Amino acid sequence: MTGHLQIERLRCEHRAGTVVIDVAQPRFSWQVSSPRNGAEQRSYQIRVSTDARQLDSSPDLWDSGRIESSACSLVAYEGKSLSSRTRAYWSVTAWDELGNETSATGAPFELGLLRPGDWQAHWITPDPRPLNAETGSVSYLATTFEIPEAGPDSPRLQIHATALGLYELHVNGTRVGNRWLTPGWTDYDRRLHYDTYEINELVHSGTNTLIAVLAEGWYAGWLGFVGGREYHGDTPQILVQIEMDGTVVATSDDSWKVIDGPVRTSDFLKGEHQDLTHRLDSMCVLGATRRSAGPTGQLLPSPCEPVRVTDQITPVGIQRLGPQRHLIDFGQNLVGRVRIRANGVENTQVTVRHAEMLDATGALYTANLRSATSTDTYVLDGQTRWLEPAFTFHGFRYAEIDGCDQLAPGDVAAVVLRSDLETTSTWLSSHPGLNQLHSNIVWGAKGNFLEVPTDCPQRDERLGWTGDAQVFAPTANYILDTAAFFTKWARDLVDAQSDEGGFPDVAPRVVDPYDGAAGWADAGVLVPWAAFTKNGDKRVLAEHFPAMQRWVHYVHEVNPNLLWLQRRNQDVGDWLHLDAPTDKDLIATAFFAHSTRTTARAAAALGLQREQAELDQLADGIVQAFRAAFVVDGGRLKDETQTAYALALRFGLIPESDRAGAVDNLVACIDARGGRLSTGFLGVAHLLPALSDGGRADIAYDLLLAEDYPSWLYAVNAGATTIWERWDGWTVDRGFQDPEMNSFNHYAFGAVGEWMYRTAAGIDWTAAAATSDGVQQVTFAPCPTVRLEHIRARVETPAGPAECGWRWSERTLHVDIEAPLSSRCHVYLPIKPSAPHQSRILELESGRHRFQIPADQVGWAAPPEGQLS
Ligand code: BGC
Repeated sequence: MTGHLQIERLRCEHRAGTVVIDVAQPRFSWQVSSPRNGAEQRSYQIRVSTDARQLDSSPDLWDSGRIESSACSLVAYEGKSLSSRTRAYWSVTAWDELGNETSATGAPFELGLLRPGDWQAHWITPDPRPLNAETGSVSYLATTFEIPEAGPDSPRLQIHATALGLYELHVNGTRVGNRWLTPGWTDYDRRLHYDTYEINELVHSGTNTLIAVLAEGWYAGWLGFVGGREYHGDTPQILVQIEMDGTVVATSDDSWKVIDGPVRTSDFLKGEHQDLTHRLDSMCVLGATRRSAGPTGQLLPSPCEPVRVTDQITPVGIQRLGPQRHLIDFGQNLVGRVRIRANGVENTQVTVRHAEMLDATGALYTANLRSATSTDTYVLDGQTRWLEPAFTFHGFRYAEIDGCDQLAPGDVAAVVLRSDLETTSTWLSSHPGLNQLHSNIVWGAKGNFLEVPTDCPQRDERLGWTGDAQVFAPTANYILDTAAFFTKWARDLVDAQSDEGGFPDVAPRVVDPYDGAAGWADAGVLVPWAAFTKNGDKRVLAEHFPAMQRWVHYVHEVNPNLLWLQRRNQDVGDWLHLDAPTDKDLIATAFFAHSTRTTARAAAALGLQREQAELDQLADGIVQAFRAAFVVDGGRLKDETQTAYALALRFGLIPESDRAGAVDNLVACIDARGGRLSTGFLGVAHLLPALSDGGRADIAYDLLLAEDYPSWLYAVNAGATTIWERWDGWTVDRGFQDPEMNSFNHYAFGAVGEWMYRTAAGIDWTAAAATSDGVQQVTFAPCPTVRLEHIRARVETPAGPAECGWRWSERTLHVDIEAPLSSRCHVYLPIKPSAPHQSRILELESGRHRFQIPADQVGWAAPPEGQLS
């Protein structure tokens, strides 16, 4: 009997669905739910088998037996050793405290090609190399392979493939898989990811045709702001291996031919050119291939979800500009590409240009794309066809399409592309503007989490800017399942670390080759740590810890007096603040203290006591040096900016006795700006938390709800559908900011999202592996304001969904909570300390809870975890 106990969200190595992994001891996660309050998982049993039919009765790889434990996250496999190509099925059974039992089966997992000898394929490249330096070469390579007549047990057919560049595969005329822009972006000479596809449905016995399309992408195409390309190499190459039941039946080799095909050129910044009169025809041989050296690094299955099409958006407006010209408004600034149904006569050219904004005349505003021409062109072949690029992406809300006589709403769509991470939360309030702000934050995260966390998706940039990611990661951890994505990027950060220990400004390290600036390079410590506290992957933390330590030593080594004055490299400071520069020595030293303390906490979480003691001692010293250099009496900072106070308060740099004074001084700084914010990237994430932690949630709400310039809602009221790079990206008085630095899809200022979830709605958690007793901790501390009628949020924590909402009605505050199972949950009710008969802090059992607080007893104080260090 199940008592409605249920197991959901089964994951292997953080991922749902069938995964190919290179992990000897994969970890399993699941969530248990029950409609009954107080239900708890008391024990579990995991079974793993190579034979799905034997999974329940006699699993041949592992039967954990019944384990008395509430653990449900990242439980490690402890069965027989797993070798290359092992495909395994797993299931979990859970029991609650009443003995109710429930079981569920996860998607199979498969071990990849673990030994170098497993790869028999050869790296190949077109010979001669295609010439198209400006707009990105694309080549079509073709071969055939034989599949014997199938016996009674039909064999499993798979392709393993990767490229230096981008590739897609077509078997017998059908595109293989639903991944795009594969194999993604890494430092290819250190690690390169490959993909594995099941192709049983696509092949038949006898001769089959395989066509591989090879483009430049991150490997050789244009990237960044300095007008450069070929950062990783100049010759795209491909590696393909076809296997039948694990036996290699065909591989890439120099017998492959170069053939003709429609995609002529493609580049992320320039766009794609297709000539459909060049049909894809494996018989039309244009040239040969040759073997190439391939990369020198490791070949690994990707640890993260690939880029996929996650949405398709129909236009909200189609304006006819001329006989063959249309302006399309998709109503949402997004990342992806335009699909068009075209039926013009042969040799008609269709041109698609993209823009995030329109100018004052209603035309596409493209000046802010800088050198990214972002234009797709097609030469039609006289057939009715859907046009869509394959190897590029754009950031846009508007598209101008030239060359189509008619375009009805069903003829055009925007296709959304992103790393396919699950959306893990909802946030809703009584304020439409705040709801739009939340939507803008979510769209910013989705659009800029494409293979790596980027700064922006539209102009000639698209780099893994570490500062932007550092600022936004805590928000991202609420709204997307970042576990696998940040696991992958943590490795990119390590690959990009210099021999001396410097993390970079961008990872992978291209375009901007220097070691990183304060608040940027610190991402190497702060992003993995933030991901660990929310996702609880101790293995990733352990793998990453030496790099964190090296970073701290790198700064310390040349700053023995503990003020970070040397080695600040690009030193951009509080980037894009509003006429409120903060002393860069103060900023850097604050981050030095914070990264050192965070590394000490990581050591503690890993049980590394000696390292923890050393790092804490160093952090204490940096805090003292900070106070001596930058703090004067009564919590007053020498440099009085909002960012200076926000960082000093949040990073624990102000003596306890002076914190209240520092909060008052922060409020005075805000008053001096007419009650408006002035922070740049580094201050923005900490401004509202510093206020509410210091008892001034009222001022935090004033800033959040402000509608005058500068504010979050100013952009919302101006029609923003994503977060802008600058507070004044566009203003009524001045129009557009300098197009040299004016993206309309840059997530850093969306870092306020963390406050909207953690404080306004009141949900926070620490993953099981990051707590002292190994049980996930969830804190509900809703922060109501009389300026709003209600806020409610729901978040998938590793152990299960947590929900918290508050609503005013009839002079009463109603608080509704859903507490997950397998967690230690507390609520901090927003009650004045003087209120009678109610405890402020309660431990909650799993399930739904409702509290009512008379309006005159409502008061709020931050729970103790507010300060970061
Ligand atoms: C990027 C930013 C980045 C900054 C730092 C810009 O060009 O777009 O987001 O953090 O440079 O230098």
